[in-house]
Amino acid sequence: MAELTPTTHTTHTTETSFIDLSANENPLGPSPKALRAIEQSLSGLHRYPEKDGDPLRDALALQHGLNREQLLLGNGATELLEFAARACLSHHADEPAEALIATPCFIPYQKVIQRAGGTLVSIPCSLGEDPLDALLAAVTGRTRLIILGTPNNPTGSTIKQTSLERFVAALPKQVLLVLDEAYIEYIDHPECADSLRLLAQGHNLLLLRSLSKAYGLAGLRIGYALGTTALIDQLNGQRQHYNTNTLAQAAALAAIADQDHLSATLANNRLGRDYLDRAFRALGLNFLPTQANFFLLEVGDGDAWVQGLAQQGIRVKPMDRYLLPHHIRISIGLPHQNQALVAALQQLLHIRAEPQLNQPCSRLRIQQPSQQSIQQPIQQPIQQPSQKKTQQRLSA
Ligand SMILES: Cc1ncc(COP(=O)(O)O)c(C=O)c1O
Repeated sequence: MAELTPTTHTTHTTETSFIDLSANENPLGPSPKALRAIEQSLSGLHRYPEKDGDPLRDALALQHGLNREQLLLGNGATELLEFAARACLSHHADEPAEALIATPCFIPYQKVIQRAGGTLVSIPCSLGEDPLDALLAAVTGRTRLIILGTPNNPTGSTIKQTSLERFVAALPKQVLLVLDEAYIEYIDHPECADSLRLLAQGHNLLLLRSLSKAYGLAGLRIGYALGTTALIDQLNGQRQHYNTNTLAQAAALAAIADQDHLSATLANNRLGRDYLDRAFRALGLNFLPTQANFFLLEVGDGDAWVQGLAQQGIRVKPMDRYLLPHHIRISIGLPHQNQALVAALQQLLHIRAEPQLNQPCSRLRIQQPSQQSIQQPIQQPIQQPSQKKTQQRLSA
């Protein structure tokens, strides 16, 4: 198993180093085998890449028990979202086709739908709520596409197998369901949906996977889609030759074969998830259970907390763009990064004593965040909205 080495992220523009827990990347970095594969490919960079990425497609097809024709590579999963949206939503000029999303969800879903000329239908859901019934109720004769993240970003929530089976069986044939599974490797809940099984049953389904997260290759931009041969062929029509580059293909091939690195990544995530779960409880913070490599925390004035943590060298994600101004999203890091985060949160909460993470929350006497305690370092008014208030706004 690979060692957990401390990696601090350094910005390109300044000399400051910080702990970056803002983008759900792999804190262990890329697989050493992927780095070696990149080195070995460098001398061939005067050549074009494999046009269709067949060696990588073959390896991925084998891994998933599918045919190469059921698999398409993309410049990140995001490019494949774009292909799906265009394939489903363009060419409906007289009566624009509709696409459904359940919010909050990954922001690019909205963008790809709008760029493809579709009508965006956002279904606001309470945090952590299964969105499937609400999505089904919103399907009309014009609906052609539904995009759903599982685990969802920013909530970390997943869909159960039984709910998903019922949902796909009830969907009209003309509606493509895109399941964005960028974080699928992190899931360890036994009831989570087995989407490959549904694909094998012939549903109108596209599964999106990414090598940006558990495989640690975000900077290379590589992802893949799994679907029926006919659907993949249709999406392939959207693609430029050479949409994925030589280094990305070589690194991805090596990364998916590096089980040690993946196991170390998942072990680190489980450890961090358990540690932060206990710490957040001990600190009295509201958060959602997660099946991914990040947590969504309710903190009051999200921006103030983002700034307060930044002042202590920790970068986390503000949630205003997700219409969750009272929340922040925090990626799970290496053990020492998670500890630094907890210490910084304690500092912001003005908790002097170490939280006793092994004790049940009820026995701890932890000071709740007060208006004054956070205001001081960041000079901003702090709101502490109740959970109920936030949810009302979300489902409005
Ligand atoms: C749910 C979700 N899907 C897709 C992506 C992007 O994947 P890629 O880097 O492969 O484009 C992200 C990145 O944060 C994400 O959160």
